[in-house]
Formats: sequence, C-alpha cells, structure tokens
Amino acid sequence: MTNNLFATKSVEKLISESEGGEHGLKRTLTATNLTMLGVGAIIGAGIFVLTGTAAANAAGPAIVISFLIAGLGCLFAGMCYAEFASMLPVAGSAYTYGYATLGEFIAWIIGWDLILEYLFGAATVAVGWSGNFVSLLGSLGITVPAAIAAAPLAYDGSSFEATGALINLPAVVLILVMTGLLVVGIQESAKFNNIIVVVKVVIVLLVIGFGFEYVDSANWEPFIPGKEILTDGSTRYGWKGVVAGAAIVFFSYIGFDAVSTAAQEAKNPQRDMPIGMLASLGVCTVLYILMSLVLTGIVPYESLNVPDPVLVALAAAGPGLKWLYFLTGVGAVAGLASVVLVMLMAQPRIFYSMSRDGLLPALFGKVHPKFNTPYVPTIITGVVAAIVAGIFPIGLLGELVSIGTLLAFVIVCAGIIVLRRTSPNLKRPFRTPFVPLVPVLGILICGYMMVNLGVDTWLRLIAWMAIGVAIYFLYGRKHSKLQQQPEPEQPKVMVG
Ligand code: ALA
Repeated sequence: MTNNLFATKSVEKLISESEGGEHGLKRTLTATNLTMLGVGAIIGAGIFVLTGTAAANAAGPAIVISFLIAGLGCLFAGMCYAEFASMLPVAGSAYTYGYATLGEFIAWIIGWDLILEYLFGAATVAVGWSGNFVSLLGSLGITVPAAIAAAPLAYDGSSFEATGALINLPAVVLILVMTGLLVVGIQESAKFNNIIVVVKVVIVLLVIGFGFEYVDSANWEPFIPGKEILTDGSTRYGWKGVVAGAAIVFFSYIGFDAVSTAAQEAKNPQRDMPIGMLASLGVCTVLYILMSLVLTGIVPYESLNVPDPVLVALAAAGPGLKWLYFLTGVGAVAGLASVVLVMLMAQPRIFYSMSRDGLLPALFGKVHPKFNTPYVPTIITGVVAAIVAGIFPIGLLGELVSIGTLLAFVIVCAGIIVLRRTSPNLKRPFRTPFVPLVPVLGILICGYMMVNLGVDTWLRLIAWMAIGVAIYFLYGRKHSKLQQQPEPEQPKVMVG
C-alpha cells in the first residue's frame, strides 16, 4: 500500500476509468447545450442584486472596471479550465485536475472546497430566488406569508437568533424540483435550462437596449469617486474600492466552471468544453459591462444600494420603462432558477468522481440504471442544499461561495503550470496561450480578489477546510483506491 499524500493519478488512467461502462454517465450534450449551461449558471443574483450594492458601497460607476477585472481573472482561470477539460473530460472537474497534477490530498481539498461553490452556491441563490419569486407573486396580488418565506435564523455577526419565521419554503421547493429534474435526465435538465436561459438573456437585453436611452452621462462623473473614510475606519471608492468591487461582483461570474463537470456527458468534449466555458463567459462579460453602464447611467450610484437595483433604475427612468418592471421580475426569477439548476448539477458529479476514487463512500457514486444520472449524490446534494436554504440567512453564505470558488481557480491555474512541466507531451486539444503568463495572472488576480474578501469569510473558509482535512484523514486516506494499490515491485537484488 502506498502512503503518499501527494500521489497523483495519471491522465491516461483517469481517462480510461471515466469510460462509463454499462451504468456510466451518457454522452448526450452538444456545444450549444454546454454554452447554455454556462450562461444558465452565470447570470443570476450577481447581476440582478450585487451590481447595485457594489456600485453604491464600493466602486461607484467604476463598477464597470470592477466587472472587467473580475472578468479578466475568470478569463485566465477559464482558459486553464478549458485546457484541463479538453484534455481530461471527466465529471470531477477541478478535483480530478488536482488529482492528476498536485496529488490526492490537494485534490481532496479542492473537492471539499467545491462544495462551497456548488452546494452552498445553490442554497444561496435559492434564497435569493425565493425573495424575487415572492415579490413577483406580490405584484400579481398573491401574498406568501413571511413565516414560510424567510429564514428562521438570522446571524448578527457573532450568534444566531430566531426570526420568528418557520422555513424558507419557496427556496426548499425550488431545490427539490430541480433535484427531481436532474435525477430524471441530464438532457431533460439541459432542455429546461435552454428555455430559461433564453428568457433571462432576452430580458437582460431588453433592459440594456431600452435603458440606454435614459442614460444621463452626468451620472458617470466622477467615474471613480474619490476615496472616503467611513466612521468605522474602513474605506470605499477610489482604486481600492474598484478592487473591492471586483471581489464582490466576482460572484456574478461563478458558474462557467460548472460546465466542466458535465464533460463526461458531452458528445465531443475535446472541442466543446472550451467552447461551452469560454463562450458563456464572453457573452456574460459583455452583458454585465453593458448592464452596469446602464444602471449607473440612469441613476446616481448612491441610490443603487437596494436588493432590486434594476427595478430602481427602471423606476427612475420614468413611466416609459414601466412595462419592463414585471419582465425584469420574471428575468430575475428565471435567471436565479437556472443558476440553482446548474449548481445542483455540478455538485453530484464532483461527489461521483470522489466516490469512484474511494475518497467518499460508494453511495456517492451511484448512477441510475435507467436515467444514467448520478442519482444518489444528486438526491443527497438536493436534500442538504434544501435544508441549508430553508433555514440559514443568505448573507452568511455569499462571500464564502466566492472565496471557495476563487481558491479552486487559483489551484487550477497552478495545475496547468505543473502539468505542462510534468507531462509536456500529453495531447491538449485546447492549449492555454502564453503559459505560464496566463495562469500566473489568473493566480494573481483571483488571489488578489480573495485578499479583498473579509476576515470573517477567511475564518469560515479555514474552518471549513479544517473539517475537510479531518474527514480526509479519518476516512478518505484509508479508503482511497490509489493508496490501496500495491507498490510497484522493486527490482530484486541478487546476492552471492
Ligand atoms: N453567478 C451566479 C449568480 O450570479 C452564481 O447568481
């Protein structure tokens, strides 16, 4: 038995293991499906909610630059993901890339870290969806009692308090419905996703197109407001504010990487994985920049410190854009629903790969004999995400999702540099350009955004990782299939 924390699995072995067999995942997704899954996962709470708060509290109109910085970090990391996903088209995504390059322990760390992105990401966005859905119903005259549409727990920075509400039922129902869909089939899920993505993209385009007419360029001046020192000693605006804004709006880009977890279900992953990830990222970056220009152009940025900045901007534009109010509500509800769907798709595929490697119990790798979906991990993910979304307040989770994702991006960028050195001759259908410059820039930009997240968020990340390390040593290390393989035979030395 080997006992090496940093033992790696060869790319060839990982690929041969991924060839499904009778009860494996089935290859049905096209490049269009993958791009739509990417857009489905990307456009959501970030653009519909965070743009406003980040502009008002951190960057001012220069939130546009914040979007560019965050987008650039994602582009660099996205190219590294694309290289890995085209070379190693398996469900485990960054977890498996880590296994191939940095060894089992780091792979486990990434896998554990990705739970923050996908499972907690789904729960966080489901809570945001619930708020939007309840107000959309309200605009139709249907009232959902607060007792069943809010978190029963609030967090005041140091302890939890009861809010009087019972459960966030809409969030729970959304997660369970999406989980059901994902159990039934990846193609069915992709088709449903395609429909909601078209709805949300059309609505975002309408807001941008019609909103531009109402832009008053005076609202963009000064584009980067001067630095302000607040009473608690913290600062906002200025260049520091622009970078802080990038760390906040980074959340809006999360999700393009989820496409890579569908690699084992893609028809032609070598070609289509890079297309799915980079095209969805490109489309969304352009939409985000235009949307933030429109919002900060219609109203002074200070007024955007609200949970529904798009509606505030439309209202400020006057009666001419009133017809867009309801549609914007529909866009947010559709947008956030598809984010939840894709996150809930990604998580079980990571569990599936970890279980195949023995780092999680076999149950986490169970594929449905008829639907060819990893149904047991899908149900486990759905149930846990539903509990989290039903009980916990959203604020506690948002930054944790971002820091977890950024950490995965940094490790994937590092993995590209390592694999180019250790296995320079592997077939790479997509090659990240200018290695090591691009991955190094990815590491620097994503790392810098991490540094700009709060101390509390860092402490939560460290606590989460400590739990993960404990589980690895108590379970994963002992059950790892790689660790249980016999040592390669040593050449016998003949004596005498
Ligand atoms: N990018 C996703 C969103 O903004 C997570 O909701």
